[in-house]
Amino acid sequence: MSTDSIDSLLTENRRFAPDPAFVADAVATPELYREAADDRLAFWERQARELVSWHVPFTEVLDWTNAPVARWFGDGRLNVAYNCLDRHVDAGNGDRVAFHWEGEPGDTRTITYAELTAEVKRAANALAALGVGQGDRVAIYLPLVPEAVVAMLAVARLGAVHSVVFGGFSAESIRSRVDDAQAKVVITADGGWRKGRVFPLKPAVDAALAGATSVTDVLVVRRGENEVEWVHGRDHWWHDALDAADPEHEAQGFEAENPLFILYTSGTTGKPKGILHTSGGYLTQVAYTHKNVFDLHPETDVFWCTADVGWITGHSYVVYGPLANGATQVLYEGTPDTPHPGRWWEIVEKYGVSIFYSAPTAIRSAMKLGRQIPQGFDLSSIRLLGSVGEPINPEAWIWYRDIIGAGTAPVEDTWWQTETGAIMIAALPGITTLKPGSAQTALPGIRVDILDENGGRVAPPRGGLLAVTEPWPSMLRGIWGDHARFVETYWSKFSDPDAGRWIYFAGDGAHVDADGDITLLGRVDDVMNVAGHRLSTQEIESALVSHPIVAEAAVVGASDEMSGQAVVAYAIVKERHRAEHSDAEFETVLKQHVASEIGAIARPRQIYFVSELPKTRSGKIMRRLLRDVAEGRPIGDTTTLADPAVMKLIEDLSGSPATTSITTTVPTRKT
Ligand code: PRX
Repeated sequence: MSTDSIDSLLTENRRFAPDPAFVADAVATPELYREAADDRLAFWERQARELVSWHVPFTEVLDWTNAPVARWFGDGRLNVAYNCLDRHVDAGNGDRVAFHWEGEPGDTRTITYAELTAEVKRAANALAALGVGQGDRVAIYLPLVPEAVVAMLAVARLGAVHSVVFGGFSAESIRSRVDDAQAKVVITADGGWRKGRVFPLKPAVDAALAGATSVTDVLVVRRGENEVEWVHGRDHWWHDALDAADPEHEAQGFEAENPLFILYTSGTTGKPKGILHTSGGYLTQVAYTHKNVFDLHPETDVFWCTADVGWITGHSYVVYGPLANGATQVLYEGTPDTPHPGRWWEIVEKYGVSIFYSAPTAIRSAMKLGRQIPQGFDLSSIRLLGSVGEPINPEAWIWYRDIIGAGTAPVEDTWWQTETGAIMIAALPGITTLKPGSAQTALPGIRVDILDENGGRVAPPRGGLLAVTEPWPSMLRGIWGDHARFVETYWSKFSDPDAGRWIYFAGDGAHVDADGDITLLGRVDDVMNVAGHRLSTQEIESALVSHPIVAEAAVVGASDEMSGQAVVAYAIVKERHRAEHSDAEFETVLKQHVASEIGAIARPRQIYFVSELPKTRSGKIMRRLLRDVAEGRPIGDTTTLADPAVMKLIEDLSGSPATTSITTTVPTRKT
């Protein structure tokens, strides 16, 4: 079908009922909904027993007496890495491919479950030799190479805690994460491949660790073959350490609530939050969702989740969910357009990918390039598609289904967060009639509601705030080292602790329609979503004001056709520096500064230089107004137009005096 006719398909009631051929073979059945509705805890108990192998079986399902910190399957013991590795080998599936890995330059590695298990055993022994044991924190800063997965599983195997830092983050970001978690060991690489060249990683680690007291050792994977500085006594080559390590390692069982990982994510304040996940409940829910939402048939499917392991999607749907289920996966190191714009589709064809899970930004970019690029490859192996990270607009949804999924593949829009650990809202393939652009329904076992500001349930069809009303197995267990912030951020808005009522506030706006289907509307707080990545307005503001020329700064997420949102900043340059450079020069310097403080993903799309920032009487920056300005919307509200600071802002940006009688639109690009 031609992309030009897509618009005409976007009729009000466009629906896609499950294909009968798909239904016949589908993993999920309507019985799942019934079972979970009848007895939610018994439902989760069954999932935990069937999907997870326990060293010591649990007798207790949920202990919520210490809410909002849950204990799931609390008296059970398990080893998460054993569940992802040894048990598949023991079951006779050691020869099954775990990963078809493809490096950006075109080098490849095929790794079976037996090989992955052997590698993880050696890595666990190598880490143990450096003194890593249960509860110790290990930071991982790697490109998307198999060693990233091996490192995570080796840490998990020891009952230690990993903190993966996305390879695009800066030395500053590594340092704050290493310090916050007091990491003992860092695992990094010389460099990785991206956009046709090697980008060095170790220099950022070296800079981050200068003066860091908690880190005793650094393991360095050789990937980029680029030259690196070496700190003798602290640094060790990964391959040397593994060669020297004992090949045998018996996995020991740890408590179900043993911490598995910390993953830092942006919140509304400047400092990223270390989201803590534990073992038994997390593994249960990632395995359950991976199996049912993606209709996994592990003997025949080839699953490809395009996320980096530096994000929660990579943790849950590259590492733990798929490996627990014994899936065969594709892992690709590089960018979608290197060395040509069809690289992803070429990989789909090469490995016969049957389930493809990606983000709306990537789909919109592919759409922009044109359908002839994917149509140049054989994508007939694809039978199911997934989307995550940001709302998917119906146009992109339909293009995805038609062009990538041959007009037949169900598109699963999956809503979840770093905090939820696993998918929470998604249709079930083979059961649900799909609605483009809507994540639709909470999964069996999950309870959500759309509430108004006062915590009352909204009457559909209406918009409100998304809340999770019952605890779930893969829920976060806290913010590392900051219990008060954990309670305040997620549990203070709707809960009534005295009445024993605990309701999780997700921070997202959502609409519920007459069928009860949920459509996500984006964040309602100061968290931006840029290309599916979470960024905090305040964190970028802090980065801007840390530059000596900046007196004050405000950041907003402005809507962007391609990336959903883009970072737009407003900055006041200190009086004494104003004459030093042009605005364009200041803009270049400050964009670079943000990239080096946080990482390239946080680099503002544009920076407006202003002489004043509009604030409320209580001194809060009027971000909504700044968003209107950044998006080129008229600022029509007379109360705000009466504010001299707003008038000043309009003058600064339009270059001419404003009058209260006009509704002013300012240019969206200044430079
Ligand atoms: O705003 C929601 C958006 O991404 C946020 C979570 O970001 P993060 O913790 O980085 O995890 C992203 C991957 C799970 C949410 O609060 N979001 C995630 N998935 C969707 C979504 N927004 C709309 N539709 C989705 N399917």
